Amino acid sequence: MRLPGYRIPTCPISDMSQSNLFTLMVVIPLIFSQSHSAKEKDCVCELQNSGPAFPVNKLNNVEFTATQCTWNITSEKMTEVDRLVLGLQHRIRQLLDNVSMLEKEDNGNLYAAVSLRIIELELAEIQDLLDKLNRTTNSYQQLSVQAAAELQDMENTMTELEKFDHMQVMVKQRENQRIKRDLEHCKAELNSTSPAPTLSPGHCGLGSMVNVSGPKTYSLTVYGTSYSFGAWGRDANPAPGDENKYWLVVLSSSNAFGNFIRQYSSLSTIILGIGPTDTYISSSNPTTNTIQGPNMVMYSNALYYNCYNTYSVCRFNMTTRSVSTVALPSDTGYNNKFPFGHLATSYSYTDMDFATDESGVYVIYATTSNYGNVIISKVETSNPPVFNQTWFTSLHKKTVTNTFMVCGVLYATRYVDKEIEEIFYTYDTKTNEERYDLRIHIKKLQTNIKYINYDPRDNLLYVFSDAYIATYEISFSKFTD
Ligand SMILES: *[C@@H]1O[C@H](CO)[C@@H](O)[C@H](O)[C@H]1NC(C)=O
Ligand SMILES: *[C@@H]1O[C@H](CO)[C@@H](O)[C@H](O)[C@H]1NC(C)=O
Ligand SMILES: *[C@@H]1O[C@H](CO)[C@@H](O)[C@H](O)[C@H]1NC(C)=O
Ligand SMILES: *[C@@H]1O[C@H](CO)[C@@H](O)[C@H](O)[C@H]1NC(C)=O
Ligand SMILES: *[C@@H]1O[C@H](CO)[C@@H](O)[C@H](O)[C@H]1NC(C)=O
Ligand SMILES: *[C@@H]1O[C@H](CO)[C@@H](O)[C@H](O)[C@H]1NC(C)=O
Ligand SMILES: *[C@@H]1O[C@H](CO)[C@@H](O)[C@H](O)[C@H]1NC(C)=O
Repeated sequence: MRLPGYRIPTCPISDMSQSNLFTLMVVIPLIFSQSHSAKEKDCVCELQNSGPAFPVNKLNNVEFTATQCTWNITSEKMTEVDRLVLGLQHRIRQLLDNVSMLEKEDNGNLYAAVSLRIIELELAEIQDLLDKLNRTTNSYQQLSVQAAAELQDMENTMTELEKFDHMQVMVKQRENQRIKRDLEHCKAELNSTSPAPTLSPGHCGLGSMVNVSGPKTYSLTVYGTSYSFGAWGRDANPAPGDENKYWLVVLSSSNAFGNFIRQYSSLSTIILGIGPTDTYISSSNPTTNTIQGPNMVMYSNALYYNCYNTYSVCRFNMTTRSVSTVALPSDTGYNNKFPFGHLATSYSYTDMDFATDESGVYVIYATTSNYGNVIISKVETSNPPVFNQTWFTSLHKKTVTNTFMVCGVLYATRYVDKEIEEIFYTYDTKTNEERYDLRIHIKKLQTNIKYINYDPRDNLLYVFSDAYIATYEISFSKFTD
């Protein structure tokens, strides 16, 4: 079995120890091959997985027991337990899918590098569900002693699987270190004959963005395919205790307007659609100060978005449920004047795009006086919010499908085809340098990307693409810093 080679034209190396755990739950030889376009020189690094194979049969047993438990429990009409067990089964089935996908992976499929960390995360969440199940079942006297024992067994197995997982992480980390060393040698060799690439440097110690891989997670929301415009993610600056919360907003009226924010306690609950909390901005939709367009962000427990039918920025405080507004220049595009889009398609009501990065919140928009070109304004999250710094670019907003910020650098994407979106443009707010020559591809599973935002806490891109929610992993190279 063989995974497709990694083609990396300029030998960039990302921080593999942390973000790029090349995951292998099964024995897969992985070939990383690099070629430098100018010199036709190839560096080949080989990765062999030496760890034991993932114990799929143990998961099978847990699943079987879970099924039995469900049957027994539902017969006693214990709906709460039922819900938890269903969740558990769903998670286990997903995990099994992921493992078997890894096993038969031999093409250039997107799932080639399913992250071990995701599976680890899933295991932790299964454990969490089991704990909840245990807590719930303990309050039901009717549950047979035997079922409780079975439960204990399942829990033990899951703990064992977790141990297995941790061990794999260690093995992978060592292998990644070796690969990194090899690649560094390779890089030095290439460098001796060709100049180093001049990618714009990052400013957060992350280095330059060299690649986007994934999707790392990909799923439909609880709404199925009903709403094709929406946004999701995590709070970029959460209050203590809210770190793992996820938010989701769908534009439930005319694919353009939203009036409530849905929140979930974890990644698995958003995927399963379990236990949402809805917070309403208004009971009607649309109306004054409700949400217009998909490109909003959550920061410090407040949602930043384009207010309905105005050129203003709205901030909805989730705690007080009150809205503060601040107006952009009066010639700012809204109501589809300067939306994102490609060719003949424009994405409705995407005039205003909000972004979070390491330094806070930005709004990206266009004005008539700047010829419909992109303008970036920093939104100070003071009370009330104000615009402090502003940068004018030469990027025409209607030719762009979306933008996001990383470390004070604006990145813009364009539509290439059904499968590929390309990050082609950057504007560095520290140096005012702009470039149109990036060629970083995002592999899509759905045609249109309606929302992208960067989460500075996990360095992932959060994407809403034709009703699907996905995350992508960014690789950075420190060599050009
Ligand atoms: C980027 O990452 C993807 C997936 O990991 C890989 O297939 C691709 O070759 C990489 N591209 C570059 C230019 O490094
Ligand atoms: C795991 O499998 C599920 C399908 O059961 C899929 O939706 C999900 O994207 C997979 N996760 C990864 C990381 O491949
Ligand atoms: C399940 O709950 C009981 C009672 O609270 C507790 O004694 C037991 O340790 C729990 N089992 C696990 C594996 O957490
Ligand atoms: C479920 O009930 C069946 C028959 O009543 C029993 O054989 C089985 O052990 C029970 N399973 C659990 C997990 O309690
Ligand atoms: C690559 O070459 C450049 C210019 O000759 C030099 O400044 C740089 O230190 C070299 N980098 C490595 C990793 O050898
Ligand atoms: C939301 O309101 C609370 C209570 O007045 C306040 O402490 C908090 O700072 C507000 N959040 C924002 C982002 O303004
Ligand atoms: C405006 O931006 C400057 C430069 O980043 C900063 O020093 C200043 O504190 C900001 N002012 C406000 C009101 O946030």
